[in-house]
Amino acid sequence: MVDAATDVFEARMAQWRAYRATPWSRLRFLIVAHTLSTSIARLGGGAWRILDAGGGDGGDALPLALAGHEVTVLDPSAAMLAKLADDAARVGAADRVRCVEGGIDAIARLGGEPFDLVLCHFVLQYLDTLEAPLAKLLQAVRPGGYVSLIAPNRPGEVLAKAARGGDPAAAFDLLHADANRSLTFDRTVRRIDAETAIVALEAAGCEITARFGGRIVNDILPESAPKSDPAFFADLLRLELALCDREPYLRTGMFWQLLARKA
Ligand SMILES: C[S@@+](CC[C@H](N)C(=O)[O-])C[C@H]1O[C@@H](n2cnc3c(N)ncnc32)[C@H](O)[C@@H]1O
Repeated sequence: MVDAATDVFEARMAQWRAYRATPWSRLRFLIVAHTLSTSIARLGGGAWRILDAGGGDGGDALPLALAGHEVTVLDPSAAMLAKLADDAARVGAADRVRCVEGGIDAIARLGGEPFDLVLCHFVLQYLDTLEAPLAKLLQAVRPGGYVSLIAPNRPGEVLAKAARGGDPAAAFDLLHADANRSLTFDRTVRRIDAETAIVALEAAGCEITARFGGRIVNDILPESAPKSDPAFFADLLRLELALCDREPYLRTGMFWQLLARKA
């Protein structure tokens, strides 16, 4: 079963939109806009055909559309897609954003040419397995095309619980836990480490071409209030962008991102 229950994502839309307005959510999307735009430029640039599976309200899709790419966003939540359609129209990108209601299982029904790049960001942890959705995602990638996966990073969660959360006992418990709690969606999520995803991608015939990490510093800063100050935010963003592809920092953030090339 690849499709997760979607009612929870609909019901928690208000919480999701509140999260999207926070400085730490803005950081997450700005970091990924940076990793994707620099990767696409390094791989030859141009206008790419991109599928965002579980793309939600388009936090990753809209910057890509504004940069000239053709983006299809597939998501089972009609409310998320409605918000994306509104935003795309508002910023003049509606002609480069296609919204399709459905989960990863619906990829086979999309039709058309396979994509240059398929994104699946912060979705896999809600699903029962990694291998089955990954196989479906890869079906949508053209030979020589790319897949980008993002999920919460196990070491980052432990560090954040101890540092920002100020709770070393809870951090210790999290060290070996296989599940965690999504506060925004009030749901139990599987903990998938980057190494597990690398093994699955390589077993599926992909070559890992880049690994990034995000919210490396943000999630261990104990105070949240300064992040709303524009000058502090700019300094924090500059530091995050400098660290996102740099060892060993990239292994310690709130999330990992893998870019892999399909054979
Ligand atoms: C945490 S949100 C992430 C949204 C977006 N990718 C982002 O990073 O902002 C999880 C999204 O996964 C979607 N989702 C849930 N089950 C799914 C499935 N089986 N296939 C694709 N998307 C799914 C939800 O509707 C929701 O929009």
